[in-house]
Amino acid sequence: MKRIVIFASGSGSNAENLIKFFQDSDQASVIQILSNNPHAKVLDRAKRLGVSGLSFNKIAFTKTDDVLNILKASQPDLIVLAGFLWKFPENIINSFPNKIINIHPALLPNYGGKGMYGMHVHRAIIENNEAETGITIHFVNENYDEGAIIFQAKCDVLANDTAEDVASKIHELEMEHFPKVIETLLNE
Ligand code: GAR
Repeated sequence: MKRIVIFASGSGSNAENLIKFFQDSDQASVIQILSNNPHAKVLDRAKRLGVSGLSFNKIAFTKTDDVLNILKASQPDLIVLAGFLWKFPENIINSFPNKIINIHPALLPNYGGKGMYGMHVHRAIIENNEAETGITIHFVNENYDEGAIIFQAKCDVLANDTAEDVASKIHELEMEHFPKVIETLLNE
């Protein structure tokens, strides 16, 4: 059984979707949710779904090997960032080469980088009158949103769409594709 560990900072709708998808799988399972926010809704979801959840602070993540050691003990086959907002530290990236992926709510390399997350991305898409947007699943390296792209899916942005409309289209794409892309990756 392949082991998936998820990092998430907020609501955790992607984390929940992944937990549920892999609960029906005999190949992989989400074994742990790690969050930088002890009050994040994702930890409530994990608890409700019977998955171990843990929060950590910035020192444990960036200045010590505490989070790295948690991961080493968990022995993940894949580390998945699902709405995780802190930059990943090099000690963890170097210890898990090609095993850390992120989902981004835009078509990278556009609309990526520091500060580009969640509704900030969707508002920028509307302000710039983009005709399309989408999702990107990519490997994580030491720079925000810059690792090799694994998968992208697009959707149209209509003239009357609001940032909330875009958010809902992106949400649909994420719910549909993220579990399947992870499943494929784990089978390679
Ligand atoms: C998702 O749309 C994800 O793509 C985005 O945050 C949202 C988290 O939603 N990630 C980023 O913006 C990363 N730069 P969720 O907590 O409900 O899964």
